[in-house]
Amino acid sequence: MRLVINPQNLFRHEFFGGLFHSRNDGTMMEISHEDAIFVWAIERLGDPVLASKVFCEVFPGSSYYPSIQPFLDEDLVVEVNNNPIYMEDIREVVIDGRKRLSEAKSRKYLRAPLSLSIYPSMVCNQNCRFCFIGSEKKCIKERESKKWVRLLSEAKDLGIPMISILGGEPTQYKGLLKILEQIEILGLKTNLTTNGTLISSEVMQQMKKSKKLTVCFSLQSLDQYHENWTGLPSMVVQRSIKQFVSDGNNCRVNTVYTGQSTDQILDLARFCLDNNVKKLSISVFNTCEKADTYSISRLRRVGETVKERLLGITGSEKLTFTIEGCLLYSAYPEIIDNPILTELDQLLNGCEAGQTILEVLPNGQVLPCILFPLSSRASGNIFESGIQDIWDNDILLNKIRSFRTKDPICKNCNFFNFCNGGCPSMQLAIHGKIGLKGDPNCEIRNRSEGRGNEQRKA
Ligand SMILES: C[S@@+](CC[C@H](N)C(=O)[O-])C[C@H]1O[C@@H](n2cnc3c(N)ncnc32)[C@H](O)[C@@H]1O
Ligand code: SF4
Ligand code: SF4
Repeated sequence: MRLVINPQNLFRHEFFGGLFHSRNDGTMMEISHEDAIFVWAIERLGDPVLASKVFCEVFPGSSYYPSIQPFLDEDLVVEVNNNPIYMEDIREVVIDGRKRLSEAKSRKYLRAPLSLSIYPSMVCNQNCRFCFIGSEKKCIKERESKKWVRLLSEAKDLGIPMISILGGEPTQYKGLLKILEQIEILGLKTNLTTNGTLISSEVMQQMKKSKKLTVCFSLQSLDQYHENWTGLPSMVVQRSIKQFVSDGNNCRVNTVYTGQSTDQILDLARFCLDNNVKKLSISVFNTCEKADTYSISRLRRVGETVKERLLGITGSEKLTFTIEGCLLYSAYPEIIDNPILTELDQLLNGCEAGQTILEVLPNGQVLPCILFPLSSRASGNIFESGIQDIWDNDILLNKIRSFRTKDPICKNCNFFNFCNGGCPSMQLAIHGKIGLKGDPNCEIRNRSEGRGNEQRKA
């Protein structure tokens, strides 16, 4: 009998301690450096008593002593019968443990992204008014699928738990089937987002049979509003969703919040419930402009009303309804006195660019976030240098990780430790520089300058 880290979890030792990432539902759990070394030693030696000995050598005189029970209770560590126990020299494991700990603590950022977003093609049959793929990115040339296939293997080796396939319209990329096959071979948890208007029967079949893929359809409303924003009738997307779920599959729907009414969102929720859609998310409208349609507080209010009214609808517990996106916390002034404290929570709540995500353009160039202009890009090509090299050495990524905003309002804000002045691509677009002044779409900032949402509208 041997103990191992549950293969349903991906385990990484990061600068703040250990990180478990569930391969099933994507939930994450942060543990201390002490527990991380203990769990790692269990994986290596298969036995909690031997792992405790390693722990005592790596942390001599520690007042904390890890216990195996909580890890067994949470199913993070499991027993296996058929794995042979290799007799390892404990002294070597101790030396490796010390090296591992010192290496993890010396890092200032994650050893690899938590999500790799790939944009195999920027070609798209729609021209959505809100789309963050501007004309300069639409012209980027595509590369053949074998480049993506290799990149996905590298992502797996680096322990990147999540892949996101975006675009352009990914279903229009000729090599998509090869990418989807590779995802299955590697067992990589993947989200594919589609406008759902041009899915070939081959792609539909592959998406349906894929075990690792979650398909998310973009739908702005059930009525004419969808067509006003995307150029095509919502009925086309609704039909694709119905076709996708017809064999018992489930999927997700995502809406960009451009000012839809509560009733429009509720209609979407009812449609989701009727069609086995498991999650409906309403996303903050990301932009580098201060657009009228963009108000995080209004999104919060609509989201809360929808949640309340959903309670009155039979079966609504089957649908996960979320509002998501950058700077959302700024619409919750009541939490400002309880700042987000753990390193992982700060990473997950703040800007993801260069911290938890990496975005790969069709030609292998990278951006910390798709909202950055191509001119800000400084590094080489990920197809040539590989993910790790770009992640560690890209000048723009390192700049985003290390800058601290000079904005006095932001520096006095309780969210400052993880927010750092809001969206850096917005700061770049509006002020020409990152770190000079905070984000004009931050609701806390606007309130402190006497420009609440209501005043801004007026
Ligand atoms: C860029 S699209 C690419 C995939 C596909 N063409 C589609 O529309 O689903 C990926 C997702 O981003 C959303 N999106 C586009 N522009 C956005 C923006 N400015 N802010 C937030 N989400 C946006 C889309 O609605 C879609 O759900
Ligand atoms: S369908 Fe997707 S990629 Fe195409 S314009 Fe709309 S949001 Fe952008
Ligand atoms: S740069 Fe950061 S804050 Fe701005 S849109 Fe991208 S992830 Fe969000």
